[in-house]
Amino acid sequence: MTILKSTTELEIMDRANRLVHEVLRAMEKAARPGVSTGELDELAERMILDGGGKPAFKGYRGYPATLCVSLNDVIVHGIPCRSTRLRNGDLVSVDCGVLLDGYYGDAAVTFPVGEVTAEARRLLEVTQGCLEDAVTHVRPGNRLGDVSAAVQQKAEAAGFGVVREFVGHGIGRSLHEEPQVPNYGVAGHGPILKEGLVIAIEPMVTCGNWRVRVDPDGWTARTEDGKLAAHFEYSVAVTTDGHRVLGLEE
Ligand code: MF3
Ligand code: CO
Repeated sequence: MTILKSTTELEIMDRANRLVHEVLRAMEKAARPGVSTGELDELAERMILDGGGKPAFKGYRGYPATLCVSLNDVIVHGIPCRSTRLRNGDLVSVDCGVLLDGYYGDAAVTFPVGEVTAEARRLLEVTQGCLEDAVTHVRPGNRLGDVSAAVQQKAEAAGFGVVREFVGHGIGRSLHEEPQVPNYGVAGHGPILKEGLVIAIEPMVTCGNWRVRVDPDGWTARTEDGKLAAHFEYSVAVTTDGHRVLGLEE
């Protein structure tokens, strides 16, 4: 059973996601060679608490930090650490979740530190494009498969891999609600999108194949072939006439 949200609830979720996007912008500004991922995490936690929220990931199934900071071949769930310093040429994914007034916000971006390769820049552009394309399919009456297929088509047309092992999700009073939102699928299939549904769409795209290996820490998820990965995420509400990307509009 998927949970549909009222306009009042969507306003709260918009505020939760606004705080998430403020944090993500601050992380991109703060990220330069020599800064540790642990320092970014501390800065993010302070911003979230000052904004009246709580870090959503900390303590979730034992996750130890506020952010996931995933460098280069790490796809998602990289654990921030005071001894991991950013270097020129790193590809950095920052994923942030906030609990505010009983509702969750969840979003992620990937950006370069200094100069990165042309392939890395193309991966960023394509992965963000996957998310933007997917969002255009969010409207009442469309099916979840339309959203998933849009991600897969754009990524694979570019010659990139689409990660299967992790998926997007419904979001609201819980960080993860139904339905699961895979980054692969068939247009015209799957559940019908209804007004008030909120889904976190989160394409994870790689320069190689889609296979994943998780480090002994139980979290850090890397590409098996060691190739670069990128990750973008928005929390998106189905509205009367289409969609609203929470935390980013006007
Ligand atoms: N955006 C990811 C998700 O929704 C981040 C979760 S990290 C975790 O699954 F630590 F909370 F699991
Ligand atoms: Co998510």
